Amino acid sequence: MDLYEYQARDLFAAHGVPVLPGGVAATSADAGAVAAKLGGKVVVKAQVKTGGRGKAGGVKLADGPDDVARQAEAILGLDIKGHRTRQVLVTEAAPIAAEYYVSFLLDRANRGFLAIASAEGGVEIEQLAAERPDALARVPIDPLTGVSEATATTILRAARFPEEVIDEAAVVLVKLWRAFVAEDATLVEVNPLIRDSGDRIVALDAKVTLDENADYRQPGHAALADGHASDPLEAAAKERDLNYVKLDGQVGVIGNGAGLVMSTLDVVAYTGERFGGVTPANFLDIGGGASAEVMAAGLEVILSDPDVRSVFVNVFGGITACDAVADGIVRAFELLAERGESVKRPLVVRLDGNNADEGRKILDEANLPGVVRVDTMDAAADRAAQLAAGA
Ligand SMILES: Nc1ncnc2c1ncn2[C@@H]1O[C@H](COP(=O)(O)OP(=O)(O)OP(=O)(O)O)[C@@H](O)[C@H]1O
Ligand SMILES: [Mg+2]
Repeated sequence: MDLYEYQARDLFAAHGVPVLPGGVAATSADAGAVAAKLGGKVVVKAQVKTGGRGKAGGVKLADGPDDVARQAEAILGLDIKGHRTRQVLVTEAAPIAAEYYVSFLLDRANRGFLAIASAEGGVEIEQLAAERPDALARVPIDPLTGVSEATATTILRAARFPEEVIDEAAVVLVKLWRAFVAEDATLVEVNPLIRDSGDRIVALDAKVTLDENADYRQPGHAALADGHASDPLEAAAKERDLNYVKLDGQVGVIGNGAGLVMSTLDVVAYTGERFGGVTPANFLDIGGGASAEVMAAGLEVILSDPDVRSVFVNVFGGITACDAVADGIVRAFELLAERGESVKRPLVVRLDGNNADEGRKILDEANLPGVVRVDTMDAAADRAAQLAAGA
C-alpha cells in the first residue's frame, strides 16, 4: 500500500526523522486556515500517490493565507498522471541550501535490502538516474545487521554527500531505517532531503510503501487505507478474501489461477470486438482450491455488479480437479438460492484439465438454469460475449 505524502511524513515524524510542521486540507478555506496557523511563507502540495507533482504544477510556494487559498484552489481537483487531487499538504517553506536523495527499499532480486542515495536530489532524479547512474550510490543492506551510524556514513560517502553534513545526515538515515523496519515498509524515500540555510537536515518530501503482508502485526495501518481508491465491489470482495479487481465491461470473469484469468480477460476483450466492443467486467481469481463457498462468494460479488450481463467461469483443473469445481458451482447455486439470490444472468462454464469429463457430467446432470457448457476457452469466451451483447 502506497501512502500519501502527509501520512508518510507523519510516520517519519513518529520515528524522529526531521520534517517540517504543516497540515492537510481538502478545501481552499482549510488550506488558508492551516497557513494562518503556520504563519509566513508556506508550500502547498498536491496529495496524490504519484511522483513528479512539482513538474505537474502540484507544488506551489505561497505567501500568507489568501495566497495559499488561491494556490490550493488551483491544485485541488488537478489531474496528475491520472490521479485526481483531493487534498493538499500545507507546510512551512524551507530555505533550501542543497537537495539530496535517500531511500531504502526491498531488493527482491538480491533477497535483501538496498540503500540508494545521491548528493544530487530534487525533481530531476529520474533524469539523473537515466543519464548519470553513477551519481546514485547503491549500497546493499544486510538484513541482520541493518543500518548503524557507521553503515549510514558509508552510504553517504558513496553518494558523495559533502563531508560537513555527513554526521547529521547519518543520524537521520539511521532513523529512516528504523522507520522502514518498524513499519514493515518495502520503500521509504526522501526526495529531497535538504540542508537548509541553518545547516539543518530535513525531509521535505516523504514516500512510503507498506508491505500489506505484514498487516496482521500492524493494526495501526488499516487506518491509512485510502477510502477513495477502493470500489464498493472491491471492498465486498476483500471482505470475502477474494482476489478481485473491478473493470468496466459487461462479462463477469471467474477463473482459477491469476495467469489463466489474465488470459481470459484478453480473450474476452478480443472476441468482444465482434459484438460491439463487449469487454470483461472484472478480474477474479478463485485460486487453486476452489471450494463451493469460494465459488458462491465469487458469483455473489460478480452478480451484484449491475454492469454484468453474462458470466464466464473458466476453469482448468489441476490440483483441484474439475469435478470438485463442478460440485462447487452446483453448491454455489444452492447457497445463493438459500440466500434468496437466484442467478438470473447466463453463465458460460468451460471445464478442462484434470477430471474434465467427470466435471462436465456433474454440470449436465445438475441442469442449472442459465448455465451453458462450452468446452474450449475461445468458444466459451465468444458465447459469453455474445450473451452479454444480447445477440
Ligand atoms: N517545504 C518546502 N519548502 C521549500 N521548497 C519545497 C518544499 N517542499 C518542496 N519544495 C520544492 O519543491 C520540489 C518538489 O517537491 P516534492 O519533492 O515534494 O514533490 P515531487 O515533485 O512530487 O517530487 P518527486 O520528484 O520526488 O516526485 C522540491 O524538490 C523542492 O525544491
Ligand atoms: Mg519529491
